[in-house]
Order: sequence, then structure tokens, then C-alpha cells
Amino acid sequence: MSHSFDPGYVAEPFLGLCADYPEADVYPTDQFRCEWGPIFHRGRLDGSARVLVIGQDPAQHETIVRRILVGEAGRRVQGLLYKLGITRSYVLINAYLYSVHGSVKAATRRSPALIAYRHRWLDALLLDPRVEAVIALGQAADEAWHFWKETPAGTARNLAYAAVTHPTQPESSAGNDRAKLAAATQKLLANWNEALQALAPHILNPDLATPLVAYGERWADGDRVPIPEFDFPAGLPAWMRENDGWARRVGANPLAKRRNITVTVSKGVVK
Ligand code: URA
Repeated sequence: MSHSFDPGYVAEPFLGLCADYPEADVYPTDQFRCEWGPIFHRGRLDGSARVLVIGQDPAQHETIVRRILVGEAGRRVQGLLYKLGITRSYVLINAYLYSVHGSVKAATRRSPALIAYRHRWLDALLLDPRVEAVIALGQAADEAWHFWKETPAGTARNLAYAAVTHPTQPESSAGNDRAKLAAATQKLLANWNEALQALAPHILNPDLATPLVAYGERWADGDRVPIPEFDFPAGLPAWMRENDGWARRVGANPLAKRRNITVTVSKGVVK
């Protein structure tokens, strides 16, 4: 069986961006898990992207896979892109290169070095005239977008834009309260429907001509779309691509949790 995969960072300016990235002097280690390294992107870097998605920060699955938005949040975003007819022509970056630990201080968010590096990515991705729309997931992404829009390159570029509720905001806000989760999910889906209405007319070159089908009041079958094999580095096993929950931060205390990610092969794979 033949497998497709993402070749990675093979051409400039991405080679340079991956060779020279901000470290703990820019991303303070009390706010970011720099010890696991930066995780840069997912999707097309060959100029074929039509939609740019800006996420927030990588979590434990992203840390192992070395691509962003590969878990539940990623599948929800993949579904959103699918509703716009975008099945391949997308690229995703996060507002932050490293996984957030606790919360990010305002001074860090506004750090010129942090912003300047992120602008190098945004410049590289958005100066391509083929990009038709940008979607920001949550507040950090929305802020990242607005910082870039204030630059000369950002001012010059007129793009359809939607800032949407972060895909896992319902789970983060509801705790274990099922009623709260249902209400927050309904609110998120209404918010995503508004974004679809706003963006769909601007997607002039979809991968798939598809009528716009709005979300209902809860997640329905097909709303979460698997992340394609061609987005992952070569050789990644199917259970890592298809499942969730196989990477967990475990440890007896906060330091141990920070130092460990336990990877467990999904049930049924090894008999
Ligand atoms: N994983 C990411 O890489 N980014 C997000 O915003 C959420 C999960």
C-alpha cells in the first residue's frame, strides 16, 4: 500500500523559518513548554493554500506528531474547511510556537520578537495571492491577525476574514457540566455558521464544489472530518493519525507532568 505524506520544510522561506526560530528568551518557560520544541504548521507550504487558519498553541498530540491541530480541535476545523469546499488547499499555523503552560502574560503576547517571527510566517503565507480567506480560532489568533493587519504588508492585503470561537472552547469552559457543554457547543456552532456565511462567497476556487450546509445545534455525523494522511510527516502510524487520546501528560506533580508525555498505542492495534 502506498502512503502519502507531508514532505515538510523543503523550500525557502520555510527552511529559514525552521532553522532560526525564537526560543526561551522570547517564549518564557513559565508560560510555555519550550522543552518540547516549537511546532510550526500543518498543510500546504507550496503556495496552493486558499485558506489560512490561525490556531492558538500546540498540545501533546501535536508535540509528538510535529504538526499542529491534529487532535479533536483539528478534526473540527477540518470539518469547517470541508463545508467551504476546502479539502486540501489550506495551511494552518498557531499564534504560539510552543504549548502554553498556565496563561500568557500581556507583555509576552506583545513581545516584539514573538510578533516579528510570527509576521515572517504570515508574510510568507499571505503574500501569495492565491489565499482567499483567513480564519482565526479564538482570541490569541484574532489578536495575531490584527497585529499583522497593522503592518504595511497586512494593510496592503485585502482578505476575507472570520474570527471564530476556538473549536474546543466548549470543553474548556464547561468543565464536567453536560448542560453547559451542550449550550456552549450550540453557541459555537451558531458562531461558526455566521463565519461560513461570511466566508463562503469569497472562496472562489474550492477543491470541491459543495452547497453550503450549516451546522445544527449539536455536532452531527460528518461535522468532524479526519485529517488526511498527506498532512502528516512520513511514516506516522494510522492509529496516531486517526485516533485521539493516545498522548497524555501524566505525572505525580506539576513538574513530572511537564516532563512526561505518555504515548499509548490505541486499543486493538497490538493484539
Ligand atoms: N492544537 C493546536 O495546534 N492549536 C490549537 O489551537 C488547538 C489545538
